[in-house]
This record gives sequence, C-alpha cells and structure tokens, in this order.
Amino acid sequence: MRKKIVAGNWKMNTDYAEGIALFSEIVNIVRDEKKGDQIAIICAPYIHLNSVAKLGGETVKIGAQNCHQNESGAYTGEISAKMIKSVGCEYVIIGHSERRQYFAENDALLAEKTKIALANQLTPIFCIGETLDERNNGNFFEILKNQLVNGLFVLSAEDFSKTVIAYEPVWAIGTGLTATAEQAQEVHAFIRAEVATQYNAAVAEETSILYGGSCNPKNAAELFAQKDIDGGLIGGASLKSRDFADIVKTFNA
Ligand code: 13P
Repeated sequence: MRKKIVAGNWKMNTDYAEGIALFSEIVNIVRDEKKGDQIAIICAPYIHLNSVAKLGGETVKIGAQNCHQNESGAYTGEISAKMIKSVGCEYVIIGHSERRQYFAENDALLAEKTKIALANQLTPIFCIGETLDERNNGNFFEILKNQLVNGLFVLSAEDFSKTVIAYEPVWAIGTGLTATAEQAQEVHAFIRAEVATQYNAAVAEETSILYGGSCNPKNAAELFAQKDIDGGLIGGASLKSRDFADIVKTFNA
C-alpha cells in the first residue's frame, strides 16, 4: 500500500518563536485528526528544524526545504543532508519550482541533491511541474517527463522506491488557481505510467505522488479522491494550523 502523505511547506515564513508556536498548535490538532498510517509532515525553515523535530514525535514528521549536493566542505552558508538528518529530520524537498526559478537549480544538480539525501537516509520529496506557458503550449508532458528522467530516473529501482514525487504546476502555486481534479489526476496517472516504464509496475504502484498548488481544506477532498493522488504538498494553508489539520482530516474521510 502506498503511503498517504500531507506535507506542509512553510517556505521562508515565520521567525523562530512564531514557527515553534505554530508547529505546537499543528501537532496538538493533528494528533486528534490523523488516522491509521497516514503521514503528516512539516517542512520548516532550517533554523526551526532542531526544535520542531523534538516536538513532532510520531504525530508530525519533519522535513527540510532544500539541502546542498555535497557531503561537507567550503560552501559558506549552505546546509548539508547530514546536518539535516542529524537533528531528526526524515524528509527533504528537492527541486521545488521556486528553487528551480530563483536559484537556477537544474535537473542534473537536483539528481545530485536527491542522491546525497538518500545517502543520508532522508526521503526526498522531489518536485516537478510545468509553467503556464508550457501548459498552454501543450508540451507539458514532455517537460514533466524530462524533469523525471534527468532528476529522478538516474536512481536505481531500490533508491527510487525510497522517494516521494510531488506534482506542483507552477501556475497553481500561491495563485489561488488550483489544477482541477481532472487535470491533476491526468498528470499523476502520466507520472505513474512513466515510473512503470522506467522501473516496473510494482514500483509504480508503490510510489506516493502528491499534488501541490493552492490546495486548501475546500478543494483537498476532491483532489485526494483521485486514484493516483496520494496526498498533498501544501504551501499557504500549512501556515494556518486549522487549515492544515483540516486537510489532514479530509484525507481520512
Ligand atoms: P501554495 O499551497 O501556497 O500554492 O504552495 C504550494 C507549494 O509550493 C508547496 O510546496
């Protein structure tokens, strides 16, 4: 059974005190809402990670939003996968469209980041997604396939099976424009089929594929009801404890 996951991505929001307060609220509410083997994750800013990892316990797992591609060394200002792991994090977002856009991260670099994350026993949440122009041009399946092939399909089947994929259409991020359930399902089915072709049907069946982009308590139920949508990567709504918990709850329903 593939894992059902609701992950929050706080991005560059909350100072330390605000972050700890918000995280504590989320843990308290999610504790009552989360059922069975569903996984709730918060990907917090680096400086919060050590503290929130101690507060989350089994209720809310912790992720980072990025990591450096090298093990250690003279990379002033950077944070390694090993450091992230050492404070109790289990996940790391790799290849978010904001990192691709503002920090010029390309697929080859993201493949390196994915490998170093796995080498440090972190689960990569690997993001792919097309821009509005790419969607309108009609070549977005090719764009998405290239992101998969160059960023993720460089992994062995064993390593690939330890990753999570997030489909985040760039045009839906922070815009209030959500992909319709049909649009999202169409892409998720495409991703799963590509995984089956690259690896095999069993690996594809076990791969968790999350949807991200203006997901909120109102639209989550319809999105999560789709056959190939295994959860969400939530931006804005993860900064409101009740909204995040309601999205988690929706998934149980
Ligand atoms: P929003 O939910 O704010 O659109 O952000 C989605 C996202 O980028 C999560 O990684």
